[in-house]
Order: sequence, then C-alpha cells, then structure tokens
Amino acid sequence: MPPTTISSLVLFLFLGSVATATVFTLQNSCTQTIWLGTVSRNGAALLNSGGLSMPSGSLTQLTAPAGWSGSFWARTGCNFDSTVNGKCATGDCAGGLNCTSGGAPPATVINFTIGTANNNKDLYDVSVMDGYNVGVGVTPDGGSGDCDYAGCIVDLNRSCPKELQVIDNSGSVVACKSACAVFKTAEFCCTGDHSTPQSCKPTNYSELFKSACPSAYSYAYDDNSTTQSCSNTNYTISFCPVFKS
Ligand SMILES: *[C@@H]1O[C@H](CO)[C@@H](O)[C@H](O)[C@H]1NC(C)=O
Ligand SMILES: *[C@@H]1O[C@H](CO)[C@@H](O)[C@H](O)[C@H]1NC(C)=O
Ligand SMILES: *[C@@H]1O[C@H](CO)[C@@H](O)[C@H](O)[C@H]1NC(C)=O
Ligand SMILES: *[C@@H]1O[C@H](CO)[C@@H](O)[C@H](O)[C@H]1NC(C)=O
Ligand SMILES: *[C@@H]1O[C@H](CO)[C@@H](O)[C@H](O)[C@H]1NC(C)=O
Ligand SMILES: *[C@@H]1O[C@H](CO)[C@@H](O)[C@H](O)[C@H]1NC(C)=O
Repeated sequence: MPPTTISSLVLFLFLGSVATATVFTLQNSCTQTIWLGTVSRNGAALLNSGGLSMPSGSLTQLTAPAGWSGSFWARTGCNFDSTVNGKCATGDCAGGLNCTSGGAPPATVINFTIGTANNNKDLYDVSVMDGYNVGVGVTPDGGSGDCDYAGCIVDLNRSCPKELQVIDNSGSVVACKSACAVFKTAEFCCTGDHSTPQSCKPTNYSELFKSACPSAYSYAYDDNSTTQSCSNTNYTISFCPVFKS
C-alpha cells in the first residue's frame, strides 16, 4: 500500500473509534400498542423510515450514526390500512406509518443531537412544551458528563386540568394540551411582548407540567439545565415508564 493509503486508513480507524454509532433501545411499557414517530434534522438519516409499530411490552433497537439529530415521540390510537395510510388519536404525522413530518401536538417529544468526532457530547431533552400524550423516560447507559434521566415521573393525563384535556371516543383522557394551544395568548405562547427569556415566565399551567415532569421542558425558556450533555453512551427510551405517584 502507498503511505497515503496507510495514513488515511489509520485516520479512518482513529475517527471510527471516536465517533461511534449510538444505540437507542426503545421500550413500550404502555398497556397499549404505540406507534413510534421519528424525524431527523439537518439532513441526518431517517431512522426506520420514520415510524414503527410497537406492541405493548416490546423492545426495539435503532442505531443512529454519529452527528444524528432528530426527535422521537409516541403515537397512540392509530388505525393504519394495508398500505399503512391512516390516522392516530395522538401524535399523528403526515406520511402514515412512516412519518414525513413531526407529530401533531399534544405529544411528549424527545429531542436528541448525537455528538460527532469533533464534539463528542450528545445533547438530549424531553419536552412537554407542546403538551403531553404518554409518559417518557430517557436513561443513558453510563457515559460521562451531564447524563441525568430526562422525562416524566407522573401520568399527566390524570392530573390534566379539564380545559386542557383531550378526550377520546370512549371518554378517556388521552392527552393534555399546552395552555398556549388552548388560550393562544402571548403570555402562554411566549410570543409578542412575552418573547424574551426575561418576559416569558412560567405560568400556573406550565408549573403544573413542571411538577409532573421536573426533568422536561415545560415552557420556551425553561431552565436549560433540563438539556443533558452526555458522552460515550447508548440510551434506553421508555414509553410509559413506571410512574411514581
Ligand atoms: C414504510 O417503511 C417500511 C420500512 O420500515 C417500508 O417497508 C414500507 O414500504 C414503507 N411504507 C411506505 C408506504 O412508504
Ligand atoms: C430540539 O432540538 C433542536 C436543535 O437543537 C432545537 O432547535 C429545538 O428547539 C428542540 N426542540 C425541543 C422541543 O426541545
Ligand atoms: C394517557 O393517555 C394515553 C394515550 O395517549 C393512554 O395510553 C393512557 O392510558 C392515559 N392515561 C390515563 C391515566 O388516562
Ligand atoms: C390559572 O390561572 C387562571 C387565571 O389567571 C385561572 O383562570 C385558571 O383556572 C388557573 N388554572 C390552573 C390550572 O390553576
Ligand atoms: C444556560 O443558559 C445560560 C444563559 O443563556 C448559559 O450561560 C449557559 O451556558 C446555558 N447552559 C447550558 C447547559 O446550556
Ligand atoms: C452501544 O451498544 C453497542 C451494541 O450493543 C455496543 O457495541 C457499544 O459498545 C455501546 N456503546 C457504548 C458507548 O456503550
């Protein structure tokens, strides 16, 4: 081999050992089937074509390349026909089973940016800023840095105020809207004269979400310590993790 080939091989092996792929173990602990939705950002690869049916109790692993950036959320109450077109009661997206857009609010959203060889830190957070549908827990498998659990420890469908509830045909509360979605005011949406970190404050509604989901974003300028920054790890993402009450 010419020396340049050898040195690029060595370089490749070096980079390859730093920027490894990240494995997400997704776990459906809900009593019903959920349909995972996922989108990617910045031209990153779409994982599993954007969607996946996950029966209750099932476990799936998805692998994201270094530098991957995107979101995951659960869809519930979906009806897909044989061509996998259809609708979901919560978290619905364009594209049917294979999402081509983000989920319709209200939905609990998990946001990830995986590190690269240059910046080894993965950033992740769970957000109930646009409402809540199912409980979510993100747990790193070791790692170094800010590697805390992110998610919800309480079932917000149970504690959702009447004016924010989404009720299905059978009368069950299946999701909890954000106050912004319901009241559409600058105060709740952090728009207009409430669009800066100084003027956008927690409200009685965002505080309700925050007390249920202390390690999740509850409003636009929530404490940014809820964004975790962890290196050299894989992650378990649980839907309907065992709730503390
Ligand atoms: C959805 O993605 C799966 C692969 O995960 C693929 O087999 C299927 O053809 C896709 N369906 C549509 C309608 O694109
Ligand atoms: C998700 O991450 C992107 C990129 O870091 C950011 O712009 C967006 O606000 C985040 N969304 C949520 C809901 O955390
Ligand atoms: C919350 O809603 C989800 C569906 O979005 C459902 O699976 C769960 O049972 C609901 N929880 C309660 C307490 O109603
Ligand atoms: C929040 O405050 C508004 C008035 O400022 C009140 O109408 C509403 O009932 C309160 N909601 C909760 C959940 O406390
Ligand atoms: C949080 O925000 C403050 C002020 O914008 C900034 O100085 C700090 O670096 C941020 N922390 C993280 C972990 O992003
Ligand atoms: C992530 O999981 C894969 C597959 O199990 C494993 O090869 C790899 O070493 C794990 N990475 C870390 C940082 O633990």
